[in-house]
Amino acid sequence: MKGVKIVGIGHYCPSNVVSNEYISSLVDTSDEWIAKRTGIKERRISDGESTVDLAVKASEEALKNSGYTTEDIDLIIVATTSPDRIMPSTACSVQERLGCINATAFDISAACSGFVYGLIIANSLLKTNEKFRALVIGAEVLSRIVDWKDRNTCVLFGDGAGAAVLESSDDYGIISTFFGSDGAKGVKALTSTNLSLNNPFVKESDDEKRYIEMEGREVFKFAVSVIPTIVNNLLEKSGEKIDNIKYIIPHQANSRIIDEASRRLGITSDRFYINLERYGNTSSASIPIALDEMIKRELIKKGDKVILAAFGGGLTWAGTLIEI
Ligand code: UT7
Repeated sequence: MKGVKIVGIGHYCPSNVVSNEYISSLVDTSDEWIAKRTGIKERRISDGESTVDLAVKASEEALKNSGYTTEDIDLIIVATTSPDRIMPSTACSVQERLGCINATAFDISAACSGFVYGLIIANSLLKTNEKFRALVIGAEVLSRIVDWKDRNTCVLFGDGAGAAVLESSDDYGIISTFFGSDGAKGVKALTSTNLSLNNPFVKESDDEKRYIEMEGREVFKFAVSVIPTIVNNLLEKSGEKIDNIKYIIPHQANSRIIDEASRRLGITSDRFYINLERYGNTSSASIPIALDEMIKRELIKKGDKVILAAFGGGLTWAGTLIEI
């Protein structure tokens, strides 16, 4: 059976850099608290660009790096928790803006695990020859669903997008995959945007809720246990040893989560790539932004094996072991 490879990657973040000091002028917090408890120093926040704008710019770079044209793409999957609209999908808007006339386009909702869910879905469709070349995007303007009066959440998130072009290949780029969800826990732990039902047949409609709400400690506990689960599962499925993995690229939520996950895995935390100090938590965009940065910085090169490990709202989790 054929394999699937990533052949191009790109990212784009808004140019507006927002420091911890600036956030401290909005809510009762401090640079010291945010840096010590999360590792975050600054984040990029949109001053007008939409989720589609960010997705298109990241995709243009990924396509350029892949050497393919928009017409070569026959599948577009966008993972987002902060779309510009419910309909059409972000993916269809990206298709229109890029002119990917041959693509089937749809969105998926898996919060911060979304980009890796997208890779896993694209991997399956490409392996079965249903599709041949995919554009998988994680794009977020989370600043639109952040409550800028809530210090528990507004210090954490940032805006950005990352994209990857995948194609079916005789080599295996994507070596093993693992994903799952736990709605029973997730429905309380991490939520946003509750659309009210308000029609002539409803007596009392719910209040519409726009903002992210999170039980931080519950999500923290989940994250530190699920990262080792993902890594161990991928290693077991592939028969690989952790020593042969050049880097683990985790969802960028909190450096303390990464420290604790590395302790539980019995490896040093420098085996994980961390860039959250500059971007905050960009949800589905965090892993492709990190992957693209690492390739540009030549931290990873062709032939290196890496593990992507994502977790987030749902609760959801997803990982893949890939050879670059
Ligand atoms: O991508 C989605 C996945 N999300 C995550 O992975 C987030 C996981 N959770 C976390 O990263 C951490 O739980 C947080 C960073 C959200 C919070 O850190 P924590 O160490 O769990 O803090 P806490 O919620 O237990 O709060 C400790 C104290 C509280 O004060 P008291 O009750 O001890 O007096 C909070 O009110 O810190 C207070 N606090 C703050 N103080 C200053 C909470 N947020 C802030 C803040 N600035 N921004």
